[in-house]
This record gives sequence, structure tokens and C-alpha cells, in this order.
Amino acid sequence: MTFVVTEACVRCKYTDCVSVCPVECFHEGPEFLVIDPAACIDCGVCVPECPAEAIFAEEDLPPGQAEFVEINARLALAWPLITEARDPLPDADEWSSVKDKKHYLLESA
Ligand code: SF4
Ligand code: F3S
Repeated sequence: MTFVVTEACVRCKYTDCVSVCPVECFHEGPEFLVIDPAACIDCGVCVPECPAEAIFAEEDLPPGQAEFVEINARLALAWPLITEARDPLPDADEWSSVKDKKHYLLESA
């Protein structure tokens, strides 16, 4: 089992999740964060910290979000580790309520 960052993070990247993770799970791309399933200890403390409600346990993923299991695992290997919170993306508050935004996910910087 692991926890998974889903579509709601795209174009927001609040990074509050990074501040509370007790291990080094999060990897950062240009518009999205992912959780390394090999590092996650399934503590769940990141879930309530995300203002966009983007993080779910693998077995509790909302409808349409199953593909993010593979996306997190793959991009965690490609993207650099992030261990400290940063400022959110400039339009994060506008994008946090947008539902259909996976197509904006850039897989490389
Ligand atoms: Fe880190 Fe725990 Fe969230 Fe996994 S569930 S990413 S270990 S805070
Ligand atoms: Fe993304 Fe939420 Fe973390 S928007 S960066 S999963 S706090």
C-alpha cells in the first residue's frame, strides 16, 4: 500500500504535504508532486495537510484517479526529491477548484 498524489495537485503544488512527511517521499515536477511508493510508510499525516485534497490512500482513490498510482511510481524515479515546503504556484487558489486538469501535467521540466 502507499499514498498517492492525484489530479487535484496539478497547477497548485501547495507543498504543505512535504512539511509533515516524516520520511523523504515527495518528488517535484514543474506543476505536480508525486509520492515515492518505495519510501512511503503509509502514515497518512500528509492527507489532511493538502489544501487541494489531492492525497489519498491507494485503496481509497476517487473515481478516475487510478492511473495516478502508476504516475506517482514512475515520476518519483524521474523527478528530484523535495524536502522543504515552497511557495505554491502563483495561481494555485484558482486551479484548486478545477476538476479536469490532468492534461496540464508536464512530465518533464
Ligand atoms: Fe509521507 Fe506519510 Fe504521506 Fe507517505 S503517507 S507520503 S510517509 S506523510
Ligand atoms: Fe500537491 Fe497538495 Fe502537496 S497540492 S504539493 S499534494 S499539499
